[in-house]
Amino acid sequence: MDHARRPLIAGNWKMNGLAADAEARGRDLAGRTRAGDAPPCDWLVCPPATAIPVVVAAVAGAPVAVGGQDCHAAASGAHTGDIAARMLADAGCGYVIVGHSERRADHGEDDAAIAAKAAAAHAAGLVAIVCVGETEAERDAGRAHAVVARQIAGSIPAGATAANTVVAYEPVWAIGTGRTPTVDDVQAMHAHIRGCVPPSIDAAALRILYGGSVKPGNAAALLRLPDVDGALVGGASLVVDDFWAIGEATR
Ligand code: PGA
Repeated sequence: MDHARRPLIAGNWKMNGLAADAEARGRDLAGRTRAGDAPPCDWLVCPPATAIPVVVAAVAGAPVAVGGQDCHAAASGAHTGDIAARMLADAGCGYVIVGHSERRADHGEDDAAIAAKAAAAHAAGLVAIVCVGETEAERDAGRAHAVVARQIAGSIPAGATAANTVVAYEPVWAIGTGRTPTVDDVQAMHAHIRGCVPPSIDAAALRILYGGSVKPGNAAALLRLPDVDGALVGGASLVVDDFWAIGEATR
């Protein structure tokens, strides 16, 4: 970690829990951040869309931001079931995840679609967390850096800056599997990403998160890497003790 970039610890709750669970988790986290001697990181939680309002209320006044897990590229219109970025902002979100590998796989989202979503997020005043990451076959074939460079080139829209964009490197094969790349591979990929973001982004100020099986037991080793500026946490973010312990690893 380079402390010029304040680490961001982001929880992606995915499609888990009902509003009461989300509210309780939000309250618990907010209470811990208010208790004093909180770790030196920014906190973000991304609940299921239906739970966003209760979580926004539960963390009100605490240094915990709320984000969406996806948005549509259009500002409004005939898109049944979708959510516009400005609706997320209206609900109290400050961030939105775009291009998560589960969206890329489940919904066939390509780099161009993700760039359009990130642009919509920016237009709505949200920070876009743009996710990239190779599959296991791509890594085994020695193509991980090339794949991620292509995703970065295609998924980050014009006008992206270090203030309105965060990149999350999430190797597909590490998500929800308990497996992670070596710390050397993570650092090499993060440095590679910092070197290939478009010129509108001040690369030295860009926050690049690692995601994929981040747990309390491996967080410190990952978060101390010079080009890792936080974590995007799935499973472990559902347990506040574990999520908090990951934040503690930024000390
Ligand atoms: P995981 O998920 O921490 O459960 O591996 C990470 C993610 O998908 O963002």
